[in-house]
Amino acid sequence: MCGIIGYTGKKNCVPFLLDGLKRLEYRGYDSAGVFILQGGQIVTVRSVGKVAELEKMVLQTNPKGTTGLGHTRWATHGKPSEENSHPHTDCTGDLVVVHNGIIENYLSLREKLESRGHKFRSETDTEIIAHLLEENLLHVRASDDEDRLIKAIAKTNKALSGAYAYYVMWTRTPYLLAGTKVQNPLVVGIGKEENFLASDVPAFLQHTRKVLFVEDGEIVIIKSSSIRLFDKAGVEKSRKPVKIDWDQKKIEKGGFRHFMLKEIHDQPQALEDTLRTEREGFGKILNLDTTGLRKLHTVHIVACGTAYHAALIGKYYIEQLAGISTQVELASEYKYRALVPATNALAIAISQSGETADTLGAIQKAKEAGFGTLAICNVKGSSLTRLCDHVFYTHCGPEISVASTKAFTSQLVALYALALFLGQSNGNISRGFFEKSYKELLSLPKAMDEVLKLEYDVRHLTRKIYKEKQFIFLGRHVNYPIALEGALKVKEVSYKNAEGFAAGEIKHGPISIIEKGTPVFILMPEDRLFEKMVFACQECRARGAFVVAITTKAGAKQLKNIADKIITVPTTNELLQPVLDVVPLQILAYWIAKRLGCDIDHPRHLAKSVTVE
Ligand code: M6R
Repeated sequence: MCGIIGYTGKKNCVPFLLDGLKRLEYRGYDSAGVFILQGGQIVTVRSVGKVAELEKMVLQTNPKGTTGLGHTRWATHGKPSEENSHPHTDCTGDLVVVHNGIIENYLSLREKLESRGHKFRSETDTEIIAHLLEENLLHVRASDDEDRLIKAIAKTNKALSGAYAYYVMWTRTPYLLAGTKVQNPLVVGIGKEENFLASDVPAFLQHTRKVLFVEDGEIVIIKSSSIRLFDKAGVEKSRKPVKIDWDQKKIEKGGFRHFMLKEIHDQPQALEDTLRTEREGFGKILNLDTTGLRKLHTVHIVACGTAYHAALIGKYYIEQLAGISTQVELASEYKYRALVPATNALAIAISQSGETADTLGAIQKAKEAGFGTLAICNVKGSSLTRLCDHVFYTHCGPEISVASTKAFTSQLVALYALALFLGQSNGNISRGFFEKSYKELLSLPKAMDEVLKLEYDVRHLTRKIYKEKQFIFLGRHVNYPIALEGALKVKEVSYKNAEGFAAGEIKHGPISIIEKGTPVFILMPEDRLFEKMVFACQECRARGAFVVAITTKAGAKQLKNIADKIITVPTTNELLQPVLDVVPLQILAYWIAKRLGCDIDHPRHLAKSVTVE
């Protein structure tokens, strides 16, 4: 959480910082600030609220300089106020620190620093880094100020515990920015006579696609025309930069009012891009150890939020197609349970960002218990991809909207392909079945195009129901997690109460919350469970619900007098149907929130990547 951008080069850094902050705003939007080295002094402009507020203040003060930092905050310690906004300085005011993450031992460190005379100006954990650096700069032996700074950072890191990335600007070294990280992202953008530090690539993507990923414990120094990397002991090392294949268009709204809607519409392309590389991707991963895979008898999948819903569907895929027993668990829970050490076992972590602290913790735990590890992830070089033995990338491009949409459907196609490859390797499915199913998978982008045409219809429906106090979603089998996902989408962007249930469960309790007119969305493609879902429709309707059936063509014909509204999605095979069924629910959530006037791309209290526990 929190988005940080740093620039050093030959131009005025302010426009780079403001633009970078806008692109990082999905990481937090409680307060924002820019800090610029101007004539040997650090000029600070900061404000509570979003980057737009900060921009107004910057226009008034018009700071200029060629080195600077910007920060947009998601509050952890201390309320979102101006004094708690970044940057934080040492007692001299010559050194500033901006930070993303949590310093877990900050209370004890603060106490010690205060007892040694340091004066704190905020309630944040970040400020202790500035004061620690202030002390360490005085006490390390160094050849010059740059060397002093590197050594002071290395020493400071030894005292900190937690997950963090922090960036430093010091008036004694006005030509450089320093950064370091532990379990939080920090990337370097390499330009021509200008370089960037940031929490995520979109912050500088319009200026360069050449990127260096900094690893845990490392320290990086950027100057306008050089980059130096050091290990945790301060010893210089080198690493080859990588080229990011995202282009500028992918981080623009492209004519849509919100990223969420744009990303919903990106889905046909996202699936196509993921599928194009998938066959080769899994082929490569799985060929690494075909004998091991044949013996594989346990799979655990860990993830959070929307990625967890993808994992729940992945279980159906792997069990049905590969015949391998699969457990799915919320990463935040998995970390704290007793895990029986395993052999011939694979743990899969699913994450769009690859930076979710709980998911990283869970996969680390599985690794320690002897599981092989596979990441299904969207962000190249992210922490998760470096932690796991194997990586399969979804290729849905940057997902900016806090509400995840295209990452979810891309994760589903990845999981389906994985299950097919596993099933073929261990002989659970025949070659013919594999080929037929793979063909069905490849036809999804086209079907996705079709399903998006439902937008007008769904948007129209929301006019009638958007003021309702609650929304209910019901599904069964592979569509049960879609009911959960539909409810999560509505909740997070419209703040309405929304619940997803397994359809068979409603009569065991949840049905009591239905009131006259409560919208109940029932996922009921025409399949072997259709008749059971018809009962669920009738039960809800009998209690006054306004029933919306999400079904396929054959189902629609049978539902004329049973549902109040029918939404017909294209038909695919039973296991893949959720990939299409979720789309009307994404659109529904968007339009409910839009009609309610919610800030869709920046829902209250949320941030895109949850990099703290
Ligand atoms: O980056 P990740 O996929 O690991 O993120 C996991 C969740 O935080 C994420 O899916 C969250 O639930 C979304 N806001 C849901 O739309």
